[in-house]
Amino acid sequence: MRQKIVAGNWKLNLLQKEARTLTKALVKHTIENAPNAEVVLCVPHLYLEKGNNWTYGSSIKISAQDCSQHSSGAFTGEVAARQISSVGATYVVIGHSERREYFKEDATLLTAKIKQALESGLTPILCCGESLEVRKKETHVEFVSGQLTQVFGNLDNTEIASLVIAYEPIWAIGTGETATPEQAQSMHQAIRNVVQVSTTEKIANEIRILYGGSVKPNTAPELFGQSDIDGGLVGGASLNVDDFCKIIDAA
Ligand code: PGA
Repeated sequence: MRQKIVAGNWKLNLLQKEARTLTKALVKHTIENAPNAEVVLCVPHLYLEKGNNWTYGSSIKISAQDCSQHSSGAFTGEVAARQISSVGATYVVIGHSERREYFKEDATLLTAKIKQALESGLTPILCCGESLEVRKKETHVEFVSGQLTQVFGNLDNTEIASLVIAYEPIWAIGTGETATPEQAQSMHQAIRNVVQVSTTEKIANEIRILYGGSVKPNTAPELFGQSDIDGGLVGGASLNVDDFCKIIDAA
């Protein structure tokens, strides 16, 4: 049985007071309702340590949204995976489509970041997903498989088994347009197949694959009910306490 994950991706949002209020409400909710899902908050670097303190006594885990491909040195503005780990975070998002697009992050860079994360004891949440253009051409399965195999090529089976994968079709991110449960399930099945071909059936059966892209309280139950969907990476709706609690409870 794969335990589901509901991860809130705050992106570049929330001032400290707002972040604290939201986190405290989520702590209360998870303590009172003991959700089935593992709850993860992907916070700006600035709140990694605070987030870890605010969630003390609850099962909520803290994640970074990115890390450096370097472990230390003269890289002004960068934050190393081992620094993220040293303040108590346990996950890091790697290769979100916004980083691939706006910061030109490619497979070589993402692989280096994954290695840093794993060496530091963090679980990478590796994102993949196609644009609307690719979806319209109906080459989305090949495209996403390619994104993954480019990274998997430089990882061994143990490293691949340590990943969480997030499938996030770019056309569904922040647009209010969610992939249908059938579209998402079919891609998740294809992703699990890529993992199986690259590693073993056991690893493919155990790896967790999250769906992201306009997950809302009304769409979460059906999405999370699909056999290959192991939870969600939630952007906009994770900033609203009521919506995010409903999504957590749907998993
Ligand atoms: P969204 O973002 O839920 O606002 O579409 C998801 C994500 O980018 O992780």
